[in-house]
Amino acid sequence: MSDLIEAIKQLKKEKNALILAHYYQQGEIQDIADYVGDSLALAQWAAKTEAPIIVMCGVHFMGETAKVLCPDKKVLVPDMAAGCSLADSCPADEFARFVADHPGYTVISYVNTTAAVKAVTDVVVTSTNARQIVESFPKEEKIIFGPDRNLGSYINAITGRDMLLWNGACHVHEQFSVEKIVELKQQNPDAVVLAHPECKSVVLKLADVVGSTAALLKYAVAHPEKKYIVATESGILHEMQKKCPDTTFIPAPPNDSTCGCNECNFMRLNTLQKLYDCLKNEMPEITVDPAIAEKAVRPIQRMLEISAKLGL
Ligand code: 13P
Repeated sequence: MSDLIEAIKQLKKEKNALILAHYYQQGEIQDIADYVGDSLALAQWAAKTEAPIIVMCGVHFMGETAKVLCPDKKVLVPDMAAGCSLADSCPADEFARFVADHPGYTVISYVNTTAAVKAVTDVVVTSTNARQIVESFPKEEKIIFGPDRNLGSYINAITGRDMLLWNGACHVHEQFSVEKIVELKQQNPDAVVLAHPECKSVVLKLADVVGSTAALLKYAVAHPEKKYIVATESGILHEMQKKCPDTTFIPAPPNDSTCGCNECNFMRLNTLQKLYDCLKNEMPEITVDPAIAEKAVRPIQRMLEISAKLGL
């Protein structure tokens, strides 16, 4: 494996490529990346890089977002089959019809969407900035929020809004078992429960801290003396454990699991070997229809601008 890691580093240097990885990637991929981050950070790094090649170690929509922001760069993903159940729960044609059926509504879309959905969106959000971006609109603004019904309900609850929600969800975050988390809490009464807002509201009710992957990590780093039960994709534990080596992190289990942790099968499709192959062959490459990209870039840029103003 060390040969493969060296070969990737060599190719990366030769081609002046930037490797970005999401926290849900396998640990060995996170370790070789130039930057590891949440969905917002990945978009921000893509937007500002001068590297001619971006390798997005994440899922398809993350590669698409980078491509829309950098149409002149080559954006590669190690495995093109790395999709997203949440993005899939929102087909662009159906969403466009839903938007057309609700004139006068502002459309806010979670970043976990296809470029075609972003093309009919007013502003994109991630879980790091969703609350602030929603609150940047007047209280009486009529808003469609898609596609995550759990994140949307959570934002409605904490902001007192009544956004119209698309009925989509992430297959990983929907799977956390309330019973198993309660059991873990009984076994570890001193543990703090961290949960991602893509979890169902019954899981969020058990959480002490709700936030994006970056926010949950930040909380753990700020309080390394505590013990944690973590209800999000278990890839995040790699960075948590790296930053807080003496802290105990317990992955919250899904309903049906033998290993006790909750992994995204799509995120796990990327491997070191596929990362090497994609750098070497400069494929598979993300392409986005320029007509769609031209519309999709606006709500993404708008998100980046608001986030920069908010210091996010
Ligand atoms: P964040 O990394 O923005 O918290 O989002 C998690 C996610 O859904 C990635 O697909």
